[in-house]
Amino acid sequence: MNRHNLLIALLLALVCGAQGITARAQDAPLRLREDNIPEIVAALTLEEKANLVVGAGFKSMWAGLSGSKDVLVPGAAGETRAVPRLGIPKIVLSDGPAGVRIEPVRKREKGREYYATAFPTGTILACTWDEETVRKVGVAMGNEALEYGVDVLLAPGLNIHRNPLNGRNFEYYSEDPVLSGKMAAAMIRGVQSNGVGTSAKHYAANSQETNRSGNDARIDMRTLRELYLRGFEIAVRESAPWTVMSSYNKINGEYTQSDPWLLTDVLRGEWGFDGLVMTDWTGKRETDRQVAAGNDLMEPGLDSQVKELVRKVNRGELSDAFLDLCVSRVLELIVRTPRFHGYAYSNRPDLAAHAKVARKAAGEGIVLLKNDGGTLPLSPGIRRVALFGVAGYEPCIGGTGSGYVHAPYVVTVPEALRSAGIELDGTLEKVYGDYLARHSKKGGIVGNMLGTGIPAEFPVADRVDASRADMALFVIGRQAGEEADRRVEDDFLLTATERQNLTAVAEAFHAAGKKVVVVLNIGGVIETASWKALADALVVTWQPGEEGAHALVEVLQGQVNPSGKLTMTFPNNYLDIPSSSHFPYDVKDRGSRNPFVRARDKGRPLVDYTEYAEGLNVGYRYFAGKPVSFPFGFGLSYTTFSYDGLDVSRAADGGLTVRVTVTNTGSRAGREVVQIYLHDRKPAAEKPALELKGFAKTGLLAPGGSETLEIRIAPYVLPSYIGGQWIMPEAFTVLAGASVEDIRLHADLPA
Ligand code: BGC
Repeated sequence: MNRHNLLIALLLALVCGAQGITARAQDAPLRLREDNIPEIVAALTLEEKANLVVGAGFKSMWAGLSGSKDVLVPGAAGETRAVPRLGIPKIVLSDGPAGVRIEPVRKREKGREYYATAFPTGTILACTWDEETVRKVGVAMGNEALEYGVDVLLAPGLNIHRNPLNGRNFEYYSEDPVLSGKMAAAMIRGVQSNGVGTSAKHYAANSQETNRSGNDARIDMRTLRELYLRGFEIAVRESAPWTVMSSYNKINGEYTQSDPWLLTDVLRGEWGFDGLVMTDWTGKRETDRQVAAGNDLMEPGLDSQVKELVRKVNRGELSDAFLDLCVSRVLELIVRTPRFHGYAYSNRPDLAAHAKVARKAAGEGIVLLKNDGGTLPLSPGIRRVALFGVAGYEPCIGGTGSGYVHAPYVVTVPEALRSAGIELDGTLEKVYGDYLARHSKKGGIVGNMLGTGIPAEFPVADRVDASRADMALFVIGRQAGEEADRRVEDDFLLTATERQNLTAVAEAFHAAGKKVVVVLNIGGVIETASWKALADALVVTWQPGEEGAHALVEVLQGQVNPSGKLTMTFPNNYLDIPSSSHFPYDVKDRGSRNPFVRARDKGRPLVDYTEYAEGLNVGYRYFAGKPVSFPFGFGLSYTTFSYDGLDVSRAADGGLTVRVTVTNTGSRAGREVVQIYLHDRKPAAEKPALELKGFAKTGLLAPGGSETLEIRIAPYVLPSYIGGQWIMPEAFTVLAGASVEDIRLHADLPA
């Protein structure tokens, strides 16, 4: 072929090629794109639409064990359904708030593992009072979701700690909604910075596990809005979660999942939420009512729900406009996901880097409650420690249920002590080792998920020998989780064995002039008032994730100066808590634990319904100024701080800007949490004396160093919902405190 012919041939090829392309474009099958959702909705059949709003069932959740091949990520809580002819892929939804919960090993796959970092749980994250720390944890967690092929992480959980015995408090942040909302927003921003979604859950008032799928939370409108909805409002307004999860329970007679007021009027209408609502893992209810209410995706999803929707639309009992709206939102979610964009996930997140994030966050959230005579940080003379308590040897790094994470490893307290150069009383270690060899409840994948609890303590009074160690470290552990609330006996209260052991240890060590440091490795509040005098120092590590023991030892030794503060009240007695008379702590018949079993409403108080009769009297809103064991916002440091220069001004948006200067007046570097409370001097109706409106944490201040914190308080957290409307406080005092009981400065507005 000469050059001329070659040129003609090339031109011909180009023209034909172009025609070919044009022809192909004309009959190209319609495929989902970011900009053609209405077209896709119009092209979907009714059956396809119904399929899109109903999840793909439970098969992904148990696929790691069953070996089912037809799932994308074994162990993920759910998947949506695909419509291949329109290029609509399925996407993957996975728990949870302390890290990605997927199956760590897969049947038929030898030599590959899919462990995920067990980060500190929600409660300890909140005790950092540090949005930046929480955001960084979110960034790492979201990266694991991305790299394990998860499109939406079913987190964060931000239900209010209404009562310390709620079995899932460990997943949640606080008894206060502003703190909860801010923490959730920080987590959502972090996770979503990876281009994966979150699900703010459980919307709303899912405050007890007892009969959670049938319980009707009866709450007056003011309490509902100011306490149980406000955290969600903050999260939605400040971080735009891709999804929100509607809870199992009812509120005032209506399931949250089929409540148009909650899901459409308030969530979307008032707060501007533009994402998707999915149900909690409910099973079948009245699917058409859920759709009509604005619940876009039914999880985990049953074929019978698809059929029901088709039937209802065909019979004219469900308007297809409602269904189309839900379908559009499902598609809007799908086009945002990594899976839609063909992200080639590695299945190899950087677990070593994320372990460092987890360790640092745990160190920031550990709370020092007591430190008599400078017991901590440990003096260099402390070289050998006697470690008591099964949780010292087998730590509770997180709770059970969907909040459980399959961690690659768990650092134990002995490992952490040794790596910091501290020896253990080996005789005692062997006693615990032998006991745990027989009684360990490490439950394997299923056992851990469902919650096997931790081994009971055994009597050690006759084995205490203070001569073998320089100090006693006494760990008290608690485990709880989904589907069961905690009890007062042997849980909120110490068990008889724990009490006897602690008494014996304190007597022996104190008689020898040695200190006793008690560590609370707990997911929720326990009683401390009756025994705390036995401890020279008291540290709460909460359930701090896989690296928590290292963080604990760093605090004990002083490499980390504790800066966590309580996000809930530690009362003197359980019955002091106003909600205790309206919480199922001693109910025998706990109703159905299975969300698939439609609970038959037998009208049982605390099971079928719960009156939130305490109203706003939750936590410090009730306890401020009353005797408690440790107040909200409390936490000690190895240094001291002074506050000055409180300045409050009106912001342009109607909110407040608060400035306060904090100075480190002690001799160690440290960080301080400043809490901003509001006291309404002329309330339009009865009101808690103080309400948290904002907070901030300093950077690491060197001795003598100071920092001026600027705290922005949005206008929408200021008003109270009285008589059916939002009423702004007119004359109020802004208080800056180190805890709710340690107010340092105040300023009146108007001045
Ligand atoms: C829990 C949710 C969780 C879901 C999926 C439910 O039982 O309440 O928090 O995301 O299961 O595992």
